[in-house]
Amino acid sequence: MLVEVVDNYESLSARAAEVVIQQIRKKPDSTIGFATGGTPKGLYDRLIQAHQERGLDFSKLTTFNLDEYVGLPPEHEQSYAHYMWSNLFDHVNVTESRVHIPHGMADDIDEHCQWYERRIQEAGGIDLQILGIGANGHIAFNEPGSSLGSRTRIKTLTSKTVEDNARYFEDPDMVPEYAITMGVGTIMEAEEVLLLASGERKSRAIKKTLEGPLTAMVPASMVQMHRFAHVVLDEEAASRLDYRHHHGIAEPKDDA
Ligand code: PGA
Repeated sequence: MLVEVVDNYESLSARAAEVVIQQIRKKPDSTIGFATGGTPKGLYDRLIQAHQERGLDFSKLTTFNLDEYVGLPPEHEQSYAHYMWSNLFDHVNVTESRVHIPHGMADDIDEHCQWYERRIQEAGGIDLQILGIGANGHIAFNEPGSSLGSRTRIKTLTSKTVEDNARYFEDPDMVPEYAITMGVGTIMEAEEVLLLASGERKSRAIKKTLEGPLTAMVPASMVQMHRFAHVVLDEEAASRLDYRHHHGIAEPKDDA
């Protein structure tokens, strides 16, 4: 694992942007896996800037998003489709037919999940998958207890997630209880994963993910099995690590 610790959220976003921009420049027809949430917003702002000021070309990319709420149409403000278009895709020159986000209103969800998996295969797999991490160690909507070999499927949201989301919805009936999510197994097939974590709130999950045992109780710990996991942390997210990670190796901080 390549673990980089930078000062703060700004530096983390800048470093993540370098990695993604380098990938797009090296292979303009890359397949990139995108994530939602607060963490990648700074990265997306920098990608927009690179497009607008330096002509970074998104037109040949194929994209796959990690997850989407079941029951929300793409135009709903809380949908991840809406997040992706408003935070990134509307501001760069993506080709709409090559953008993939699970459809929360699919008639047959199981069939849709299988189609999503097939589309990833047909695109030749994901070159670079951007990932956030939940404070409980989830990746995408693979909550603790998710199979580490799982594929794209429907998952029940934890009661905590449902509770946390309720404040964003005027109509309580619209608060999602399920999501479609790429599986841990799907995510781990990406050529490279880029896991980003910022802030003290993530420090316990990061400690368990990088230095704890591989366990379905911390689905993100599966990055230990990945052939090229790149982890970028800010100092707060890294604050509970017992090891100093550098150049793909780890040495105890306190080796007296
Ligand atoms: P966040 O979410 O980036 O909003 O913290 C990450 C996640 O829960 O996967």
